[in-house]
Amino acid sequence: MSESPIVLVIGATGKFARLVVPELRRRGAVVRALVRDQSRAEVARAAGVEQVAIGDLRDPASLDRALSGVTGVFHIGPVFAADEAEMGVALVKAAERAGVEKFVFSSVNQPTNMELKHHASKVPVESALYNSRLRYTILQPANFMQNIGLAWSAIVSNRAFAEPFPADARIARVDYRDVAEAAAIALTESRLDFATLHLSAGMFDRREIAAMISAELGVPIEAGELGFDEWVAVARPPYGEEQLQLLATVYDHYARYGLGGNSIALSAVLQREPRSMRAYIRECAA
Ligand SMILES: NC(=O)c1ccc[n+]([C@@H]2O[C@H](COP(=O)([O-])OP(=O)(O)OC[C@H]3O[C@@H](n4cnc5c(N)ncnc54)[C@H](OP(=O)(O)O)[C@@H]3O)[C@@H](O)[C@H]2O)c1
Repeated sequence: MSESPIVLVIGATGKFARLVVPELRRRGAVVRALVRDQSRAEVARAAGVEQVAIGDLRDPASLDRALSGVTGVFHIGPVFAADEAEMGVALVKAAERAGVEKFVFSSVNQPTNMELKHHASKVPVESALYNSRLRYTILQPANFMQNIGLAWSAIVSNRAFAEPFPADARIARVDYRDVAEAAAIALTESRLDFATLHLSAGMFDRREIAAMISAELGVPIEAGELGFDEWVAVARPPYGEEQLQLLATVYDHYARYGLGGNSIALSAVLQREPRSMRAYIRECAA
């Protein structure tokens, strides 16, 4: 890879992928964000990107323009979009046309879990990479710890950490900053080339997490459980009816099976222990 890779980042204005930007810059990459309009360009610049390209994953010509001169691509799919697979495949094809060297896809753990439609929508994108001449790294992260951060003010004011599945369901979680670091390593070094990596810091149930929050805040925090509709009314996720249906299937799956995951690949990638749940909770409390 060239001295200062230019990396096109999809999702630089999003809740999680924006965390990739500082990791890339720390490693000397020039970051170009794909944004859909000028107002989002400002958001991307505030997140630290140096260049912006206006375009849309649904507009291949705009991808060709955005990829001019680019050596690396970081892609995360817009959450619960019905055409998430088509958008990702179009980006892989455009990256090939543009002569991009390296493509990192932030997928999801268990993409082949066909019970979860939005997990399965990552499969065509992974397949497009396997059937390309691109060097790729596929990251398959577990549930993000940052989801807890998004709920933090409700947790503190209600003195309860409530989700719509049983408190004893064990869910694999990961700090997305570790995923961002893995992505930046993959885009600036060659040691993760052609790897498909399950990324998790370990499995936790909500009672354990609530106990960590209690210990950090010094007040009792209940591990609550809400019905899905009750939870939607409180958490107000920014989704329409179809997206909520997909989210409901995720929580139903968690209720029945939990979400498996282990930290072996993430430790190897980072060459250190992954950021822990306890450390994440401590930061939220601070
Ligand atoms: N939450 C979890 O625990 C978890 C775990 C594993 C995997 N994931 C995966 O993470 C992914 C991202 O989720 P998220 O909640 O971070 O999404 P998000 O915050 O809504 O971010 C989506 C990003 O994609 C951009 N975008 C949307 N449509 C676009 C289009 N047509 N063309 C170009 N850019 C577009 C958005 O730009 P704008 O600023 O213009 O809207 C935004 O930057 C999903 O694929 C999800 O399956 C999530």
